Amino acid sequence: MTAPAQSTTTPLSAGRAKKPPKLKGGFPIIGHTMPFVKDTIGLLQKTYDECGSVGRFKLFGKDMILFTGPEAHEALFRQPDEVLSPNAAYKMMVPVFGEGVAYGAEPAKMAEQMHMLYPALRNNRMRTYTETVARETLDIIADWGDEGQIEVSSFFGMLTNFTSSSCLLGTEFRNEMSEEFSKVYYDLERGIVAWGYIHPYLPIPAFRRRDRARARLGEMVSEIVEKRRRSGYRGEDFLQTLMDAEYSDGSKLSDHEITGMLVAAMFAGHHTSSVTTAWTLIELLRHPRFLEEVRTEIRARYSDSEDYNFHSLRDLEKTEGAVKEALRIHPPLFILLRAALQDCEILGYQVKKGNWVAVSPMVAHRDERVFQDALAYDPHRYGPGREEDKRPFAYISFGGGRHKCMGNAFAILQIKTIIAVLLNRYDFELGDDPVETDFQGLVLGPKPPITVRYKRRRA
Ligand code: HEM
Repeated sequence: MTAPAQSTTTPLSAGRAKKPPKLKGGFPIIGHTMPFVKDTIGLLQKTYDECGSVGRFKLFGKDMILFTGPEAHEALFRQPDEVLSPNAAYKMMVPVFGEGVAYGAEPAKMAEQMHMLYPALRNNRMRTYTETVARETLDIIADWGDEGQIEVSSFFGMLTNFTSSSCLLGTEFRNEMSEEFSKVYYDLERGIVAWGYIHPYLPIPAFRRRDRARARLGEMVSEIVEKRRRSGYRGEDFLQTLMDAEYSDGSKLSDHEITGMLVAAMFAGHHTSSVTTAWTLIELLRHPRFLEEVRTEIRARYSDSEDYNFHSLRDLEKTEGAVKEALRIHPPLFILLRAALQDCEILGYQVKKGNWVAVSPMVAHRDERVFQDALAYDPHRYGPGREEDKRPFAYISFGGGRHKCMGNAFAILQIKTIIAVLLNRYDFELGDDPVETDFQGLVLGPKPPITVRYKRRRA
């Protein structure tokens, strides 16, 4: 989250601003809903190719305006929430996080709640998280033996579940409530379905299970909070940060709010990190030249001493480039949404109250005008002399502006740690499964099964 700079919104004055160009085709009322559902990325790409940096199509009876290109992204990300609202766009998440929490709160209150996470993301905490992630990774591979195979999506899903629950929720959840937490979290996730866009509280079984799970999670968090308060135990985790946090008027977060913020952090950080770790390994295995560079960097540092600490991991530049490039080619959040709450003019185009407004990291990162040989996996593009990610609002895997991802440094450090531990101990090889993207779900990852074989490295 960065401080908002000058916004380029102006109120809509009749006759001056143009209507955004409209994508050809589409049916009356439902517009482009069918092609959007069938091939979302294809439709977004077509909108950019046909209409340029600002283009419009119709979805479920409403206009969706897509902004593409660094200047267009900036113009969108700079809008105040009162004009382009993430809360209204993501309201299907409100029953999951809870009323009055994150997207369920007024913008000013949400901003205060987000600020409360900062102490959990400072360097001293990052040191602890690094050790935790390295330990969890070493534990999970402890019985791997000399050789074997994994299915990458399920393996990294499980591993990042352990690391996220340790770092965010704390040791009590990780050690004592792990199994029940997995069940509850599963029901919460399964409660995020397209019906939520129509009404997030429809009386359907998925929503009933979601609400039961949210209530049970609230009880579990309250139990732990109460125990910590009584025992005086202080964790090095997000839970402790939220227990200590205060609003500007001095009031504390309620247990309901603590639960919601923890769920929000888990939702924001778990799948996104898990699929990015999987893509990083897959892309390295598909590109032996970059794999060799990364492996050499890691082994030069950790062959003699497996001291995976914050400072040494931060210095792994080649590994960081590999992670960033996996994130550019495969941004897990491929569309970022806002809902227009007022008529306004952005970059000379009309945006009307009730319109959806979007940027797509996926379309943005395939733009040859911004990234050289954009479809190629090339971690060198971030190195000296090129630094293609430095152009403001070009690289948007973590969004931008006031709602930019707060967990980006944590995510990259976590993924680097996992990759470093694995490549230091083992050599890997892709199996014969086709490597494709799984377009089901809100977070895009590799389509399972993708098997990877491992062999303990020779001394
Ligand atoms: C590779 C991993 C991750 C990716 C790709 C990612 C991506 C994003 C993106 C694109 C946004 C902006 C959404 C929008 O503008 O609509 C965002 C917001 C956010 N992310 Fe992440 N994220 C990742 C990991 C994490 C982690 C690990 C955490 C926390 C521990 C986290 C916490 C957040 C929060 C709290 C926000 C909301 C910020 C706000 O609205 O002010 N993220 N993330």
